[in-house]
Amino acid sequence: MTKIKKNLIALLLGAGVIGGAITSSTFAFDDHDHDNHAKKGQHSDDLEEYMEELDASMKKIRRSLKKASSNADSLSHLEKMQLATVHCKSLVPEMGHKLKGQALKQMTSGYRIKMAEQLILLAQIEIEVLKGDNKKAAKMYKGLTKMKKAGHKAYIEDE
Ligand code: HEM
Repeated sequence: MTKIKKNLIALLLGAGVIGGAITSSTFAFDDHDHDNHAKKGQHSDDLEEYMEELDASMKKIRRSLKKASSNADSLSHLEKMQLATVHCKSLVPEMGHKLKGQALKQMTSGYRIKMAEQLILLAQIEIEVLKGDNKKAAKMYKGLTKMKKAGHKAYIEDE
C-alpha cells in the first residue's frame, strides 16, 4: 500500500473517531468491541502498557522530527503512537475503578475525547512530515507534551 493510501486511511480513522465522540456522550460504553483490547467498560493494565509504547516512540520523535533525513523513522514512530492511542482510548483509566453510573460515563467520555484529539494531532504531525515541513512538525510536538501533561493531571490521581 502506498504512503498516500495509508495516510488517507489514518485520516478517515481519525475522522470516524471524532464523529463518534461528538455524536455520543456515552461513547466509551458503545457495544462495539474494536479489538481484543477494547472490551466493553474494561479496566485494564493494558493501558499502562500502551502508554509505555507511546512514551518510547515520543522520546524517539523529539529529535527525529527536526531532521528531514530521519523522516522515515519519524513516520514509523508516529504510526506506532497512533496505533497505541487507538488502543488507549478504548480502555478505562485506573481511577474508573472507584466510579460508577453517570460519573464513570462522564470520566470515560472525557478521557476518550482527549485521546481522540491526540490521534488527530498525531495525524497532523504525520502530514507535516510527509509534506517535508520538519520545522512545523517539530513545533507541533510541543502540543503532544501539553496533551500528555494535561491528560495525566486530569486522569491520574495524585499527579
Ligand atoms: C503522547 C502522550 C502520552 C504519553 C507519552 C504518555 C505516557 C504515559 C506513561 C509512560 C504512563 C505510565 C507511567 C506514569 O504513570 O506516568 C502513562 C500513564 C497514564 N496515562 Fe499517559 N501518556 C500520554 C498521554 C496521555 C493522555 C492524553 C491521557 C489522558 C487523556 C493519559 C492518561 C494516562 C493515564 C490515565 C495513565 C495511568 C494508567 C491507568 O490509569 O491505568 N496519557 N502515560
